[in-house]
Amino acid sequence: MKALILSGGAGTRLRPLTFTNAKQLLPLANKPILFHIIEKLVKAGLRDVGIIVGDTREEVEKTVGNGDRWDVKIRYIHQPAPLGLAHAVKTASGFIGDNDFLMVLGDNVFSMELDALIKNFHSDRANSSLLLHRVDNPSQYGVAVVENAHIKRLVEKPREFISDLIITGVYVFDKSIFEAIDSIPPSPRGELEITDAIQKQLETGGRVTYGIIQGWWKDTGSLRDILEANRLILDEIDCDNKTLPKGDSEITGKILAGKNVVVKNSTIMGPVAIADDTMITNSFIGPYASIGRSARLNDCEVDNCIILENTRIDSIPRRISGSLIGRNVQIVSTRKRPHSNTFLVGDNSEIYL
Ligand code: G1P
Repeated sequence: MKALILSGGAGTRLRPLTFTNAKQLLPLANKPILFHIIEKLVKAGLRDVGIIVGDTREEVEKTVGNGDRWDVKIRYIHQPAPLGLAHAVKTASGFIGDNDFLMVLGDNVFSMELDALIKNFHSDRANSSLLLHRVDNPSQYGVAVVENAHIKRLVEKPREFISDLIITGVYVFDKSIFEAIDSIPPSPRGELEITDAIQKQLETGGRVTYGIIQGWWKDTGSLRDILEANRLILDEIDCDNKTLPKGDSEITGKILAGKNVVVKNSTIMGPVAIADDTMITNSFIGPYASIGRSARLNDCEVDNCIILENTRIDSIPRRISGSLIGRNVQIVSTRKRPHSNTFLVGDNSEIYL
């Protein structure tokens, strides 16, 4: 079985970060989302991986590489325009050939392993198999109507409530999906929807089975969701804080610390991830913060945040919380008169003082 990761999406809801970063490379516990996905594929024994890339192709290829670090073979497939998930699958037909394949959307993270889904796909002799999840807000997803343990209908972003079981973005297909894709029209949003292609399989006698997400699942498309995914992953980190020199600091809970981390006169309360070459002085780093490489934090309080590399936060009196802060950002109080606020911020930035 091959694996296909869709990493072409633009991530408009995470602007301005996604003006300069692929959303699939944003870090959770200091590791790009795509790395978390590839690790799941490897654990399920999948080593032949195609990644669909779009405008952010260069950055994705540079960061992920050829797969050597996981001992997998990675092939990049360019989708010239974001014309939908089914269009992306069609673009990958040369890579897939006649093989069965497991597909994951590049902004999905989840705690469960994928072995059972693959095993059931084979034992059910399915054409398609989906992972479903119960949510409170199904209208923004593809939704499955299930009766007597069978999928009856699939609808992409239904206007009216039909079910609270959503399609998560983890699928297994056989080659019959290509025929189904060829027989669907674009949706109202102008995309070829994979949900419509699977619905077509249902209508034409295809066998579509499902599994239910065990544990947690997150689509990391919005600030709220990406912070929640970061918290869920930090909750699962398996480490102790022995590697972090304590000195005059108080360090409790699980800390995932990189190399050359300096902590002075600070309180760090895990779960927290701190990447290489970071310096934290006179600060409180509270639960659920992921601090990127070479960050400098002085005289500040930070919790429930993702901070990317090389960012500096200095002398900020109020706690910084619930924030996603990009690379090379400076948030600094100069304490000089006149006491004014000075900003150099990109398009679509959000600042709440
Ligand atoms: C896509 C799929 C949808 C699925 C969702 C999961 O939606 O079209 O069926 O439920 O991913 O994240 P999109 O992110 O394109 O709105």
